Amino acid sequence: MNFISWREDYSVKNEVIDNQHKKLFALINDLYEAFVTKSDNLGVERIINELSDYTENHFKEEEKLFAFYNYAEAEEHIKEHKIFINTIQEITEKYKENPKSFSTRITSFLQKWLINHILETDKKYISMFPE
Ligand code: FEO
Repeated sequence: MNFISWREDYSVKNEVIDNQHKKLFALINDLYEAFVTKSDNLGVERIINELSDYTENHFKEEEKLFAFYNYAEAEEHIKEHKIFINTIQEITEKYKENPKSFSTRITSFLQKWLINHILETDKKYISMFPE
């Protein structure tokens, strides 16, 4: 089931990062599928936790590149990462307290946030990579 699909114009011209973004897309698809097919709550919780951990690791990888290439817009970018990590943690906590609080509004939010962040924020750092 493809709730969110990768497109070539999402590429940031770095294979490692593109693959991490593809994995985030796959996790959001898994989360959507687990929710709409009403698989057991443990499945949804496991995917939310994996999405949260993977997102944090992905952001750390990007931030290491910012430090390595001395990226001028790192500070603003890292702020966006922090806000999103807090939001995912809130979603996770709310889900644990009350699984019924979860809805497709949340998967839609994750989908829109990720695509928007890649297109509007991540793509800006393409210029820091050497030609
Ligand atoms: Fe790919 Fe800035 O997250």
